[in-house]
Amino acid sequence: MAARILLVGSVMMDLILRCERAPQPSESVLGHDYRNAPGGKGSNAAVAAARAGAHVSAYATVGKDANGEYLLARWKDEGVDTKHTIVREGANTGFVAITLEDSGQNRLIIFPGANMLTPPDQLEEAFQDPFDAVLLQFEIPFETNARAIELANSKGIITVLDAGPAQKYDLEKLPPVTILSPNETETKALVGIYPSDEATMKEASMKLAERNGCKYVVLKLGDRGSYIYGEGLEVLVPPYKVNAIDPTAAGDAFTGVLAKAFAETRDIVESAKIANAAGALTCTKLGAQPSLPTAAEIEAFLAQQ
Ligand code: RIB
Repeated sequence: MAARILLVGSVMMDLILRCERAPQPSESVLGHDYRNAPGGKGSNAAVAAARAGAHVSAYATVGKDANGEYLLARWKDEGVDTKHTIVREGANTGFVAITLEDSGQNRLIIFPGANMLTPPDQLEEAFQDPFDAVLLQFEIPFETNARAIELANSKGIITVLDAGPAQKYDLEKLPPVTILSPNETETKALVGIYPSDEATMKEASMKLAERNGCKYVVLKLGDRGSYIYGEGLEVLVPPYKVNAIDPTAAGDAFTGVLAKAFAETRDIVESAKIANAAGALTCTKLGAQPSLPTAAEIEAFLAQQ
C-alpha cells in the first residue's frame, strides 16, 4: 500500500535569480535569468513524496495573499490534500530569495512569514486521519514540531525530521524522532562537527543520536551520498553521478522520498539508495519543485545504474 504521509511544515514561494557570481558587499551584478517556483523545505519534501507515489496531506500555513493562493493550487495539482492547511488573514506567505551562480553555488534568504504561525493546537485534529509517516523540518515553530512528534510517537507513526535550515536547535527538547536527517552544514551547526570523512560522520551521528534519542541519523552529504547511523548500522550509501545545475531542494527530495520508501519497506539502506537517486535527479533541473522527479523517473534512473 502507498505510504500515507502527513507534512507538518513549511511552504514558500521561491524567487530564483541566476547570475555569473553573487554580488560582493555593496556591489550589484547583472542576472541572466529568473524564475518564481513553489518551494519551502516542507512542501518540497511533501511534493517529492507525492510524486514518488505517496498519499500526502499538508498541515501548514499560508497567508491570505496571491502567493498563498498559488501555492495551494500547486499542491492540489500534485494531489496533496490541503484540508489541514491554514490560511491566515493578515499574514504574508513565506518567501525565499535564492541566488544561483553559474558554478551551481546557491545562497538563500528565507522569510518564513505565515509558516511561523503554524500552531501546535490544531495538530490533534489532523492526526485523527491515519498516517504512516510525518515529515518535519525547522521552518515552522519548534513547539509545533515537538507536539507533532509527541502525537506521532503516541500513535507509533514514523517521524522524519530534516534538520534545516542550519541552526543550533535544542534537539534534546524534542521527543525522539525515527529519522533525524541533517545535511553537512546543519550537522556542523548542531554538533560542531563537519562530516568530512567516515570517522567524523560517525562521531557527528553519535552526538546527534545522543542528543535526540532518534532511531537513525541519516546524513545528507550532497555529491558524496548519504550516511546511515543507528540500530547497529554505520553505512555510507554511495552517490549517483549526474550533470548537476542546481542543488536547490535536492535534500528535500531526499527526505521526502526516504520517508515514503522507509514507511513502505522499513529498509533504511534501500530507502536511502532510492532517496539518493531522487536527490541526484533534482540537481539536474532549475528550481525547487519544478525539478522533483516522479516515481517513473526515479525507477528509470535506477535501472540505468
Ligand atoms: O531546501 C530548499 C528550500 O529551502 C527552498 O525551496 C526554499 O524555499 C527554502 O525553504
